[in-house]
Amino acid sequence: MNLRGRHFLSLDDYSTDEISYLLDLSAELKRMKRAGIKPRTLEGKSIALIFEKPSTRTRCAFVVACVDEGAHPEYLGKGDIQLGKKETVADTARVLGRMFDGIQFRGFKHQTVVDLAKYSGVPVWNGLTDKYHPTQVLADFLTVQEQFGHLKGITFAYVGDGRNNMANTLLIGAAKMGMDFRIIAPKSLFPETEIVESGRRFAKETGAKITLTEDVKEGARGCDVLYTDVWASMGEEAEMATRIRLLKPYQINMDMIKATGKENPMFLHCLPAFHNNDTEYSKEIGAMEVSDEVFESKYSRVFDQAENRMHTIKAVMVATLGR
Ligand code: CP
Ligand code: NVA
Repeated sequence: MNLRGRHFLSLDDYSTDEISYLLDLSAELKRMKRAGIKPRTLEGKSIALIFEKPSTRTRCAFVVACVDEGAHPEYLGKGDIQLGKKETVADTARVLGRMFDGIQFRGFKHQTVVDLAKYSGVPVWNGLTDKYHPTQVLADFLTVQEQFGHLKGITFAYVGDGRNNMANTLLIGAAKMGMDFRIIAPKSLFPETEIVESGRRFAKETGAKITLTEDVKEGARGCDVLYTDVWASMGEEAEMATRIRLLKPYQINMDMIKATGKENPMFLHCLPAFHNNDTEYSKEIGAMEVSDEVFESKYSRVFDQAENRMHTIKAVMVATLGR
């Protein structure tokens, strides 16, 4: 499989085989790292990491993956560069493309990452936009594959804000990988028609099933994996109070785990998570999208999932830019 020179902006652009290839490569790179082998396939390369929004996992995953593979990562945070403010995205892209070998972008508008890809002349990787978070879904699927051995036919429910970047990307990814995928959310937070239609189009080719439901019990029944994310994404902090009212019945707790009817369902969350009252934002309200009991339970694989961000991001860079 040759992905040299490709961008990684969304899973829409990647075939089932290409996604499988990236997951297999991630598993291989993970094994190699554990064995102390570092092939340094990005030796001599320089990578720009543009961040309009904060990040722990994505930033650290890119930095460590770069260093493991011999590349130099350069962090360009909010306030460091003029992107879109004093300089157009197209101009910044053309400048960075003359100096760097690859560019990661995390930010608001999906169009920004599309424009960086259009004008830079080097591979561009999407580290999260308001629409999609594709490197996260690779880590999610690697974690599922590690426990269940496969993705096809896995019953997977995303519960909560069904129209955010995670819900959108999981829907497309699950459709591509032939999964039985459900969004469990209030109707007002169902994904946009455009996303559902593309998912259903891909599902026709892979045998995937896409279901949208408001009914928690019905949606959770038979699920191998329950997944959730924060109720208000970065940039939507003003919505928090409304979302809490709307999404309270959609918290993943032990009742929902039991409702799967499975002996050992997996709980996943892209993190950061509000699972107790130990953060500044959750001080008053406490656990939101997941109960502390589930978060800390044997079902929870959230830290394997977080570690897998690094192996999968490394695979994306190695596949598109490596020697
Ligand atoms: N899951 C995720 O993208 O985490 P960060 O926001 O910490 O990068
Ligand atoms: N939906 C969340 C994902 C964080 C990794 C956000 O965009 O804030």
